[in-house]
Amino acid sequence: MPHALDLTPRPDDRNSEIWTAWTKLQENGVVSYEQDPERNLAVGEREDCTRFSRFCGFSGLVLDVGCGPQPWPAYLSGSASGTVFCGVDPLVGDKPGKYTRVRGLAEYLPFRRGVFSHVVFATTLDHFVSPHAALVEARRVLIPSGTIEVWLGQKAEDTPAPDKSHDWYDQLIKPAGAEDVFHMERLDEVAAINLFDSAGLQVVGKKSYQAGEYRTDNFFRLAAG
Ligand SMILES: C[S@@+](CC[C@H](N)C(=O)[O-])C[C@H]1O[C@@H](n2cnc3c(N)ncnc32)[C@H](O)[C@@H]1O
Repeated sequence: MPHALDLTPRPDDRNSEIWTAWTKLQENGVVSYEQDPERNLAVGEREDCTRFSRFCGFSGLVLDVGCGPQPWPAYLSGSASGTVFCGVDPLVGDKPGKYTRVRGLAEYLPFRRGVFSHVVFATTLDHFVSPHAALVEARRVLIPSGTIEVWLGQKAEDTPAPDKSHDWYDQLIKPAGAEDVFHMERLDEVAAINLFDSAGLQVVGKKSYQAGEYRTDNFFRLAAG
């Protein structure tokens, strides 16, 4: 792990069933990020990443929570000049990055309170053991005028199984307690708004985009209520 500080905590409950399930999901995620990075991470020229970047309007000091293992998440491009980015993710550090990154967990952010102008969750909240704890942490590290930007992909209930799938995908195992082979619990718009409310956050901006026939990208801007 030569390319980042490791600030991952070792809380007592990390041996619990839910963290064991999360560890398996992370292993599945790594397979998908290595086998098909363009479809599973924000890399390359992607219209959805450009839209999210525009929605966020980054400036100041920005924290990307669950930034991914890639050197540079595509949605961080297009910010105001002088913007400084920092990322946190349990997978950073094995390969070099193009901005400051820390290996750590969203539920236990290794930063002091009141420092970031933006905190970003780009297709990550549904991967966490506790999205509630992650949002409370995001609120803690935000400056009073700061905002949290969230990107959640929502799949239609009638989404058909793909015509053909890859061998690497067919070999992934869904652990007990997880919703599918990658996600702890997917969040539709209603579940997301209830979650934000429970963390003391208000929705102050929202946009939805149809991304293909069965997927909607929901973008939310949140502020401390
Ligand atoms: C679908 S990827 C998205 C990565 C990046 N935001 C992007 O769009 O390219 C989900 C990311 O969430 C990270 N993640 C999962 N659990 C996490 C946690 N508890 N704290 C921080 N990041 C986590 C994974 O390691 C993975 O990099």
